[in-house]
Amino acid sequence: MSSEQGRPNKKARKAEKKGGRSMEEVEPRLPCTATKYDQHNIFAGMQHNTVPCEKLWDRPASFAILDHKPAARGHSILVVKAPAATLLDDLPPEVAAHILPDLQILVRAVQAATSCSGITVQQNNGSVAGQTVRQLHFHVIPCYSNPDATPSQHHPPTSNAHQQQQQQQSLSDPQGQGSLQLPESTAVCEEAEQGQLLADIRNRLPPSYSGEGCHVWVPSAEKMEQLGMHLQALLQPGTVVLLSGQLGSGKTSIARGCIRAWCRDPHMHVPSPSFLLNLTYQQDRGYEQQNVEQQQQQQQSHHQAQSGSPGPQPAAVHHMDPFRLGTKADKMAGLVDFDTAFQREVCIIEWADRMPKSVMDLPRKETLEVSISGVGAQAAGRHVWIRSASPESPAATALRAWRSQGLPPLSVSWLPGQANPGQSLLFDPSQRIAGPPDSWVVLGIESSCDDTAAAVIRGDGTVLAHKIASQAGLHEQYGGVKPDVARDAHAAAICSTVDGCLQDAGISAADLTAVAVTVGPGLSLCLQVGVKQALTLAATHNKPIVPVHHMEAHALMARMPKINQQPLQFPALLMLVSGGHNMLVRTDGVGKHHILGTTLDDSVGEAFDKVARLLGVVAIPGGPHLEALASREGASTKGAAYKQRITLPLRKDRDSCNYSFSGIKTQAGMVVDAERLRLGLQGPPAGVAAAAAGMGEGAADGQGPEGCDGVQGQGQGAPQTEAEEEFERCKAGIAWIFQDTCVRFLVERAERALQRCKEDAQQLGQPPLTCLVVAGGVAANKAVRQGLTDLAAKFGLPCICPPVKYCTDNGIMVAWTGVERLRLGLHRPPPPLDMVDKTVEVLPRWPLGTIDARGLNKQSEKFLKLVQ
Ligand code: KG4
Ligand code: ZN
Repeated sequence: MSSEQGRPNKKARKAEKKGGRSMEEVEPRLPCTATKYDQHNIFAGMQHNTVPCEKLWDRPASFAILDHKPAARGHSILVVKAPAATLLDDLPPEVAAHILPDLQILVRAVQAATSCSGITVQQNNGSVAGQTVRQLHFHVIPCYSNPDATPSQHHPPTSNAHQQQQQQQSLSDPQGQGSLQLPESTAVCEEAEQGQLLADIRNRLPPSYSGEGCHVWVPSAEKMEQLGMHLQALLQPGTVVLLSGQLGSGKTSIARGCIRAWCRDPHMHVPSPSFLLNLTYQQDRGYEQQNVEQQQQQQQSHHQAQSGSPGPQPAAVHHMDPFRLGTKADKMAGLVDFDTAFQREVCIIEWADRMPKSVMDLPRKETLEVSISGVGAQAAGRHVWIRSASPESPAATALRAWRSQGLPPLSVSWLPGQANPGQSLLFDPSQRIAGPPDSWVVLGIESSCDDTAAAVIRGDGTVLAHKIASQAGLHEQYGGVKPDVARDAHAAAICSTVDGCLQDAGISAADLTAVAVTVGPGLSLCLQVGVKQALTLAATHNKPIVPVHHMEAHALMARMPKINQQPLQFPALLMLVSGGHNMLVRTDGVGKHHILGTTLDDSVGEAFDKVARLLGVVAIPGGPHLEALASREGASTKGAAYKQRITLPLRKDRDSCNYSFSGIKTQAGMVVDAERLRLGLQGPPAGVAAAAAGMGEGAADGQGPEGCDGVQGQGQGAPQTEAEEEFERCKAGIAWIFQDTCVRFLVERAERALQRCKEDAQQLGQPPLTCLVVAGGVAANKAVRQGLTDLAAKFGLPCICPPVKYCTDNGIMVAWTGVERLRLGLHRPPPPLDMVDKTVEVLPRWPLGTIDARGLNKQSEKFLKLVQ
């Protein structure tokens, strides 16, 4: 019990003196349980000034925590601080005494639901002023597992003590909203519902607290487009839509939907304007003129759907993106006649904060701001906040209606012959896949680089079949993967790989639950082959499609039951090391990734491949062969002698978790050349000579160094002379020191990341890491695995690496990611079969998640701009 009981605290006394209200003065006095437990009471009370709610509200900043871990249980809108006494300090003692047991239950429920133990804050006043104390700020809100339930059916928390208390007090609703229902079950809000819940909370909160306008939860990229289609109804001549959100947050998807609805063609090609800076769309109005009647009908339904009535349609829509101009963004000013556009046309602007000030200062008729929070593997969901800058505009009125009633059904009169892309955007739990997840059967297709792979797995992690058509031997003559050659090889192999897989699994496509496919990042030409195949199959058999992020798939491989002894739990630190990526990522769940560090130039896999080539390996990828060379007898002794010449990179960078591998690669090349010179070996370096001769075997199985003896995959014959023999030993030494330096470097930065996560757990109340995961092709390397396993042990964590044979690209990882996403409802319906070609969309550059600001310094910012 609170020690403050029995005496009004200082704040309460002060409030009374200032004319503030204390509980005693409130007439009629609400029973405090009712105040707490019924949202209607809270709101009604606030509106009529009968509830001293200022005591219960906190700053909107607390929402940051909800974003991170949406509170999933509870009822009534309250800010609960833990220890509860902090809040009780602010309440009149009798109220505090009454409320304490319930608060404790609420706090425990919230803590259990969110696994958040609180944040550390510096106390400005009160008895612990100046001290740093741990607090839990939560908005405990009505929570329900059925979004269609009416508010009076919302489930209060379900602890027994609480139920008993409610029964004893036989609560009634003093505002006449109907008595509260006791919970029937202890069902918690499922993860897939949490985002929706969060948007609901914000819509229910008064605008002074959660901002004007409407909050929408958008669970997938496709729904993002649908939101754009809804937004179109708000466009009027002179509307300027400002889209903000990080790269990969879905700004272009919203713009695309908006423009497609405006042009009434649901499949119109609406590319990102980032290269052309501006794309202008003129609407063909001929159809309306011929069908005046239909137009009137459409307008009528518009009026019904929106409380703000859409005015006349604008003549042109400009879709702009100044991102690539960087410091030269003032060039945007010359692209469009903005005086006219801002008054009579429509502008949809991505990265508006980068537009020239001269343009943004021009008078605008109506501004709609659309902010998207979140980034990363797109389908994990986004919170979108739409608001109008002028409270009296029709758009503002419509948004208020959206806020209170939810989005209206989509009302676009599509051009004749165009399939309707969907009716409504609202979160739809009926999209859940039927049957127990363990029984699902999912096909995964992977074609992002040089392996065509497919797999069929069951939802419980059983692999029913998997196949890889390797392109080994094909790219060696080019010294790297050649995209058009790879594309042709994928196209030649895709049908037999997928069909063969289904056959091996003993099923037909009709038996599948869903089709998962890698849509990025990777080589655009290659990705398209897999995506097209997946869409065709899904469209033919009416199966849901799951778009998969290649790097997330690598990571989730560590979560697949059956093949991992100890499957990955969240949160985890991921070390993603492949041919294209080199990242340290804190992951809190599927689609919830935060990049702590990345490479500023090459990835470690790329460096392995390039150095392997310098050492005479012609096979692609060369990484496993380099490992084989480094594990030759005597390699470590020989390699130790090169320690001064192949050194750890980025010595001046003392606190970032970023990487750079091009320096080590250059040093390795210099040592190779120096040794050749010393030994009097003639001619070009071995790799070049071998490549020119077009010799060598590929690492056909892609299964790591087993089967690579360090000679296989090399272009040379057996050494002839003593010098050549000595050079062979040097090569092994160089391979060893290169690999050893890479491992030490990987470990050094991973240690920083682990340390950072540990501090964040202590200081921000983030849940502590449960493991370190190493995934991606380079995770097949034994020294890498060992180095990181030892590091994790220092932090008392397990290190999880998927089995070596599943580290490199494969179809199983895509299929498993498909299962994980299906569980969260993150899938989309198939396109109509005749639309497949138009709906093939890939994301060659697709950020996995947000980038930690602490990893950004001048050098990395420059780099990150380049890669974007
Ligand atoms: O993940 P992955 O199969 O393809 C990409 O998504 O890039 O990774 C391929 C990369 C190549 O650079 C390859 O050389 C490297 O992983 N790799 C290895 C080993 N096995 C594969 N690098 C070092 N040691 C290995 N045993
Ligand atoms: Zn990969």
